[in-house]
Amino acid sequence: MSVVRIGIIGVGVMGSAHVRSVSQLKNCKLTALCDIDPQALERQKESGAELFSDSEALFDSGKVDAVIISTPHYSHVPLALRAMERGLHVLVEKPVAVQKSEAARLVAAAKAHSELKLSAMFCLRRIPTNIKIKQLIDSGELGAIRRINWIITDWFRTQTYYNSGTWRATWAGEGGGVLLNQCPHQLDLMQWFFGMPATVTAKVFFGKYHDIEVEDEVSAILEYPDGKTGMFVTSTGEAPGTNRLEIAAERGRLVLENGKLSFLRNEIPMSEFCRTSKTTMSFPDRWHIDIPVNGANPTMHRDIIENFAEAILHDTPLYAPAAEGINSLELGNAMLLSQLKGSSVSLPLKAEEFDAELEKLIANSRKGKQK
Ligand SMILES: NC(=O)c1ccc[n+]([C@@H]2O[C@H](COP(=O)([O-])OP(=O)(O)OC[C@H]3O[C@@H](n4cnc5c(N)ncnc54)[C@H](O)[C@@H]3O)[C@@H](O)[C@H]2O)c1
Repeated sequence: MSVVRIGIIGVGVMGSAHVRSVSQLKNCKLTALCDIDPQALERQKESGAELFSDSEALFDSGKVDAVIISTPHYSHVPLALRAMERGLHVLVEKPVAVQKSEAARLVAAAKAHSELKLSAMFCLRRIPTNIKIKQLIDSGELGAIRRINWIITDWFRTQTYYNSGTWRATWAGEGGGVLLNQCPHQLDLMQWFFGMPATVTAKVFFGKYHDIEVEDEVSAILEYPDGKTGMFVTSTGEAPGTNRLEIAAERGRLVLENGKLSFLRNEIPMSEFCRTSKTTMSFPDRWHIDIPVNGANPTMHRDIIENFAEAILHDTPLYAPAAEGINSLELGNAMLLSQLKGSSVSLPLKAEEFDAELEKLIANSRKGKQK
C-alpha cells in the first residue's frame, strides 16, 4: 500500500474540514463518505468519494483501508469497534467517548487489534508551544512542578451555537458540555504534560450562561500523588475570556498566554532558596526568557491525519493514540462526579459510579423535546 484509502463517517462541521484536509495530503486518498443526513451528503457530491448513508455499508464496501469518525460523541466507540472488526484502521474525533467505561472498551479493542492503528484527534498536541512545554517538563528543565493553574475561559459559545444541532448540550445527545466538547483538548494536554492526579474536587455549574442542561462553567482542584496541585477553570459563557497556563516549578514560572511562552527562571531552585536564604523576604535571582515558538498551527488537524496515514504505511509512532483518550475522559468524568456527589473523587475513577449518575441525567434529558 502506498496511499491509505480513507472514509469519513459524519460530514458535519468537523467532518467537512477533514474532507478538505484529506484531499490536501499525499499519503491518503478520500474514497468514501458517510452521513445519515442526506443534505450533509449532498454537500459532498463534488468530493469524488463514494457516498454512503449507512456506515455498515461503507465498512463493508472494500473502498477504504481506514476511517475517520466525526459523528456525535456517543457513536464514537460503537462505530470505531465496528470498523475495527472489519479490519479498518480508525482515527476518532475527540472525545473518544462520553464516559470512561466506553473508552475502556476502545482500549481493549486496541489491544485485541494491535495490527490496526487507532488514533484520536487530539490536535492541540501539534501546536509548537504545547510541544515545547512537554519538552521542558520531560527534560527536567523546569525542575519539579509544584503548582499548575490553567484558566480556559475563552471557549465562548452563543446560544445559537448550542441550538445548531439537536444533539448538542443535552445529556442524552451529547453527554456533557464544556468538559466533553471544548475542553477534551486541554484535559488531554493536562494528562500529557502532568500525568494523572490522585483526587479531583470540582464545582460545576449546569446551564449557568445558556439555556442548556449540561455544564458551562467548571472550577476544579487537582491533587497529584507527588504533592503538586492544579487548578483547572473553564467556561463557555465568558467573553472575552482568558487562556492562561501557569506552571510554578522549582526552576521558575512558565506561562503560556496569547500563544506566547515565557519563562521567569530562578537561578536557585525555589525550595533550596527558601531553606538556605538568610534574608526574610527576598526572591531567588531570576531572568526572563521569551521562548521563541509559534503559538498556532493552522494545519494541526491535517497533521494528525497525515501522521495516522504514516503510522499505517510505515509504522510511524502515533502523535495521539486513541487509547490515551481514556485519561482526559477520566478527568472530565471525575469533575462532573465530584459536583454530583458533593465531594472529592479519588482516581482511578469508579466507572460504574459515573455511569449510574450519567444514566440519571440521561433519563431526565430534554433531547427531542426542544429546538
Ligand atoms: N478536533 C477538533 O478540533 C473538533 C472541533 C469541532 C468538533 N469536533 C468533534 O467532531 C465531532 C463532530 O462534531 P461536529 O461539530 O462536526 O458535529 P455536526 O453535528 O456538525 O456533524 C456531525 C455529523 O455526523 C452525522 N452523523 C450522526 N450520526 C451518524 C452516524 N451514525 N453515521 C453517519 N453520520 C452520522 C450527522 O448527520 C452530522 O452531519 C464531535 O466529536 C466533536 O466534538 C472536533
